[in-house]
Amino acid sequence: MKDLLHVTDLTTGDLTRLLDLANGFQDDPRSASHLLAHRIVPMYFAKPSTRTRLSTAAAVTRLGGTPIAIGPDELQLRRGETIADTARVMGSYAAAIVIRTYADADVTDLAAAAPIPVVNALTDGHHPLQAIADLLTVQEHFGQLRGHRIAYVGDGGNVARSLMEAAALAGMDIAVATPPGYEPPDEAVAFTAAEVDRNGGGFLLTTDPVEAVKGASVVYTDVWLSMGDPEEDQARRRKALTPYRVDENLMALARDDAVFMHCLPAHRGQEVTPGVIDGGRSLAFRQAANRLPATQAVLYALLTDRLNGRP
Ligand code: CP
Ligand code: NVA
Repeated sequence: MKDLLHVTDLTTGDLTRLLDLANGFQDDPRSASHLLAHRIVPMYFAKPSTRTRLSTAAAVTRLGGTPIAIGPDELQLRRGETIADTARVMGSYAAAIVIRTYADADVTDLAAAAPIPVVNALTDGHHPLQAIADLLTVQEHFGQLRGHRIAYVGDGGNVARSLMEAAALAGMDIAVATPPGYEPPDEAVAFTAAEVDRNGGGFLLTTDPVEAVKGASVVYTDVWLSMGDPEEDQARRRKALTPYRVDENLMALARDDAVFMHCLPAHRGQEVTPGVIDGGRSLAFRQAANRLPATQAVLYALLTDRLNGRP
């Protein structure tokens, strides 16, 4: 497999391989420090980023390469050069391309034309690097993934989608609670249901946050207004999503040893209360830290041909 564009590109074996590699990079961050020697990795970010941009830069550096951050106005794309031409040209200089943008089709087009690996660093529909770091964090905390329920509560956007797909590949028990109209897309629901069947997990899609968190080891949420969502939707989203705020009362309904997770950035008082995200059960900053070894693992695997991808 050349690229990592979606969690659904991966097999269960690929995910396990990535988590093992990431675990290795946690123990020995410099174990492949010459892989990208004398190579560059362009990182095109059309949306803001703190974690993804910096953890990817750190991952490339640890693999011996040079990350080049590129903003949306710095290429010729906005002056009419095609994505395909841009991809071909980048392929002459770079080891891989990391891209964060709006439309998934743009990333698919880039990957189709690029002779080198392309990594999706978040699109409107997907956030695979986040999901891999999240499962690494759950595994690190609980020792294993199977047998644990992840309850995702809130907007069924890119983070929810990649998380549920990855948890299904790992054979976890997944519960997703969203307001009506904010569910993950049908194809993500179908993939999750099929993989849960195959891998022996469980899957609940509900509008009831209380039902979702019962028996959960992890309670997870994301922002109410994602990058690229129209500002004029803010009031409507706030009204629909307020009952899905993760607070101390909701956490109390999960397992006694349950943890809280959030991809960050967080909005205290909106999707999560300060007491939960800043409390002793929050793994939010472990997740952020784990973005680095997870991205190192993805780049290593793609550049050494260690992912099979789905047939
Ligand atoms: N979680 C995440 O992707 O954060 P950034 O937007 O800061 O990269
Ligand atoms: N759903 C959020 C995730 C941010 C990391 C967004 O797309 O803005």
